[in-house]
Amino acid sequence: MGFLSSTFPTLVVLLYLLACAASGQLSANFYSTTCPNVQTIVRSAMAQAVAKEPRMGASILRLFFHDCFVNGCDGSILLDDTPTFTGEKSAGPNANSARGFDVIDTIKSQVEAACNATVSCADILALAARDGVKLLGGPTWTVRLGRRDARTASQSAANSNLPGPGSSLSTLISMFSNKGLSARYMTALSGAHTIGQAQCQFFRGRITGGDTNINASFAAVRQQTCPKTGGDSNLAPIDVQSPIMFDNAYYQNLVGQRGLFHSDQELFSGGSQDSLVRLYSTNGAKFAADFAKAMAKLGNLSPLTETNGEVRLNCRKVN
Ligand code: HEM
Repeated sequence: MGFLSSTFPTLVVLLYLLACAASGQLSANFYSTTCPNVQTIVRSAMAQAVAKEPRMGASILRLFFHDCFVNGCDGSILLDDTPTFTGEKSAGPNANSARGFDVIDTIKSQVEAACNATVSCADILALAARDGVKLLGGPTWTVRLGRRDARTASQSAANSNLPGPGSSLSTLISMFSNKGLSARYMTALSGAHTIGQAQCQFFRGRITGGDTNINASFAAVRQQTCPKTGGDSNLAPIDVQSPIMFDNAYYQNLVGQRGLFHSDQELFSGGSQDSLVRLYSTNGAKFAADFAKAMAKLGNLSPLTETNGEVRLNCRKVN
């Protein structure tokens, strides 16, 4: 065998590895020597949290989305406000709504006890979101690791980058496209609304006459706990069929005009996503596969790596 033919494959592999390291990419085995048990620790802590309150799987998944969409998956949403710093927790889409911070704290202290100052809060959130979905019956995926934690957070970016429940289809498509996510990914990721709860103030308009593309008996049921005035924080399941089961019922609801938010129903309202919604509504396996792929992509949004950022010791404050 000639020199080139025997060494070329090795060279290609070496160059690839070098390129990965140089470009600061995430990798599945990032902690395999420094914290080999991190995945087990996160999984069992999430299993406990979800057993205590199934909704927690949903709350952590939403935290991860809100982290990644605001300057990347860098744990910035986890920072508490201080007298001299106003972060993302108090931004419009998060205030009195984002939850699960105490669960992340619990996991972080268990991970710190096993591997001090090694695993970032951003990576813990990525793993916990994946595990919550799986624990509620959804798909799983490989989480690539090596994210580092931001030393700052942006309230203004949180206010402007996250979609709201009144968003139109074109706004949703452009907000996701701003993050490099196609309309197809947007529609797949929206399937996260197959789990969790929402406050009346976010869907009142839709169920009290604001929307015509709504099933009348569904609207009537929702109005019982979400009246025209008052009860702003009363909760309703986002998926009327199976709110603690990660399945494709969300899309079936949309086809039946039982989407809870105006923004949900926009995905099935005679526009470009109708056929994909129909496909997911009848093919749960296709939805599960696309959701897993989209979550991996969401988790890759502008991570801080290598010497950027830090590994926070307490997820609520910078070191
Ligand atoms: C497409 C645009 C989206 C809009 C407009 C939107 C909006 C909302 C709103 C208004 C709530 C209710 C919050 C509350 O009542 O306190 C909510 C809940 C939730 N969202 Fe979204 N969301 C979107 C996309 C996503 C994505 C991409 C994910 C995850 C991949 C996600 C996961 C969740 C989950 C799991 C909940 C329930 C949280 C809980 O029960 O604590 N959402 N969303």
